[in-house]
Amino acid sequence: MDVSQTPDSKKEPEKKTKKGHSILLMFKWMGKHWYMLIVSFGLLYVISYLRTLIPLYSQHIIDYVLKFSPDGSRLPAFLFNLIDAPDTMTQILLASLMIIGVEAVRAVAIFLRRTTSSIFGERVTFDLRNNLYRQLQDKGYSFHTHSETGDLIQRCTSDVGTYQNFIETQITEVVRLVLLVALSIWQMAKLNVQLMLITLVSAPILFIIAAIYSGIVEKKFKVIEANESKMTTHVQENVSGSRVVKAFANEKYEVEKFEGLNRKYTDSDFELTKKMATFWSVTDVICFIQLCAVSVAGIYFAARGDISLGIFSAFVVYSQNIIWPMRQLGRLVGDFSKATVSIARLDEILSSDHEYTHESGALTPAITGAVRFEHVSFKFPDSTYHQLNDINFDIKQGETIAIVGRTGSGKSTLMNLLVRLLDTDTGAIYFDGVEIKQIEKHYLRQNVGIILQEPFLFSKTVEENIKIADRKLNGDRVKEVAKIAKIHEDIVGFEKGYETLVGERGVTLSCGQKQRVAIARMLLKPKPILIFDDSLSAVDTETDLQIRSALKKEWRNSTVFIITHRITTAKEADRIFVLDKGVIAEIGSHDQLIAQGGIYKQIWDIQSKLDFQLEGGESDER
Ligand SMILES: Nc1ncnc2c1ncn2[C@@H]1O[C@H](COP(=O)(O)OP(=O)(O)OP(=O)(O)O)[C@@H](O)[C@H]1O
Ligand SMILES: [Mg+2]
Repeated sequence: MDVSQTPDSKKEPEKKTKKGHSILLMFKWMGKHWYMLIVSFGLLYVISYLRTLIPLYSQHIIDYVLKFSPDGSRLPAFLFNLIDAPDTMTQILLASLMIIGVEAVRAVAIFLRRTTSSIFGERVTFDLRNNLYRQLQDKGYSFHTHSETGDLIQRCTSDVGTYQNFIETQITEVVRLVLLVALSIWQMAKLNVQLMLITLVSAPILFIIAAIYSGIVEKKFKVIEANESKMTTHVQENVSGSRVVKAFANEKYEVEKFEGLNRKYTDSDFELTKKMATFWSVTDVICFIQLCAVSVAGIYFAARGDISLGIFSAFVVYSQNIIWPMRQLGRLVGDFSKATVSIARLDEILSSDHEYTHESGALTPAITGAVRFEHVSFKFPDSTYHQLNDINFDIKQGETIAIVGRTGSGKSTLMNLLVRLLDTDTGAIYFDGVEIKQIEKHYLRQNVGIILQEPFLFSKTVEENIKIADRKLNGDRVKEVAKIAKIHEDIVGFEKGYETLVGERGVTLSCGQKQRVAIARMLLKPKPILIFDDSLSAVDTETDLQIRSALKKEWRNSTVFIITHRITTAKEADRIFVLDKGVIAEIGSHDQLIAQGGIYKQIWDIQSKLDFQLEGGESDER
């Protein structure tokens, strides 16, 4: 599994976003909905073109109708012919009706454009969210252990929002402004080239400022995103771990820590706002100077008789059509920088390989329960030492194996290799002679059941939680397995029985109850191999015994691995593996290991002594 591709918010600010790649992705994610964007662009053309006609109406009235210039009207012929009339009053009336007509058509086009853009944005992000969720489901165990939940949630919500905002409003806004500027320049060029060029004097300055500003925004936004992600992660962790916080009376510390993160986030946001304010002020002044320049030059040209009064009035409007959009473009370039940061963050989830792309074999051999480990070693990618070293064993179908060892000795890691939650570095694991990497992963996990050390129950009913392995099974089977796992009595004791909601809004189960629900869940379907990772640690010794004897009856032919710290549980197994610092230090039956006098014997002695004392006996050390 590739951990290098794990999203890491802490590294975010240093990473360089490749803009070209982001643009490609932006369009790629639009998928089959791209045609709606084209429709939007078409409507934008209509809207912008109609807008550039409006100044020509005033020019028409001043120069042609009121006869201020011998040049006459500059309206396109088809419109001119529509509103030309023999008398002045009718001409004014028709021209006014025409303006209203043009504005009405523009209003309809604007409505259609906005609706199309919204539907487009919603549809694209609907698909994107589904895609992200699917990818997250398919990511490997390492990806999830190395990702911060808060950060992932932020990517799937806030970053998707930034992307949606950009494709829904800002792309079309860019096109609208570019069209408006281009069409206005074209109309102005037809009226007077010299004055048109004067109108464009400030354009390069505005563009240079916008380019510098865009770089600044991108950097600042990356910092904001990273800070927001840290804040979200803090909230998420503290809400999930609220009991730990309370138990250690850490509320004040946590609130202060949050305040620190919140301050950092607010400061970074404020930094960006300051930069934006500077940008707006500087460009405002430039735009104002530009407008003054156009007005002065226009008056000068009009006074010299180079242009008519009507053309001058049209220029005043056109220059506004150009200057304000160019200033807006600067802001949009900044927004584009924000969007590229979000796109890169989303791409980290979408593009990194999911676990099934890594060496997932296609074989579905019969798995009976025979397991062989050959020189298996394993090291976590970010660790400096091997957690498992040269593990070798051979297990026959139906054997019960207990695995004991100090905490951190590698017991869970060893079992995670069996279901390929982790993959071996060297050596190989065989199920009935077939190498594990050649077996199809889903198939493998259907045959090897594992109850993880920290069972997780969803916010669903107890029955739904048990039926996760197979939703089609009926309630009778659920009760049957609940009885084997000795949780049935507890469940019927709840007010709503099997319909009781578990988790945040429902009943909070005790640790032992959770473990037993997790056991019931795994027993739902017969499996040739079962793994209990310390799954009976939170139940009392008697229940532990009852569950194990019920299991023995029900699952006689299955190979069972029981990780346990309770030596009385281990004692019952056919063989016991003693793990010590990642190596199997001892293998044998209880009697053999006691006779060996090694680690197992030490643990046995300590636990027997403790049991003896607890039962009221006296220690022989006295
Ligand atoms: N994701 C991880 N990345 C790096 N090291 C890890 C990771 N998970 C576990 N380890 C390390 O691997 C070693 C073995 O861990 P493992 O969970 O297998 O121990 P264990 O024997 O199951 O302990 P316990 O009895 O407490 O459950 C430990 O030293 C642990 O710190
Ligand atoms: Mg463990």
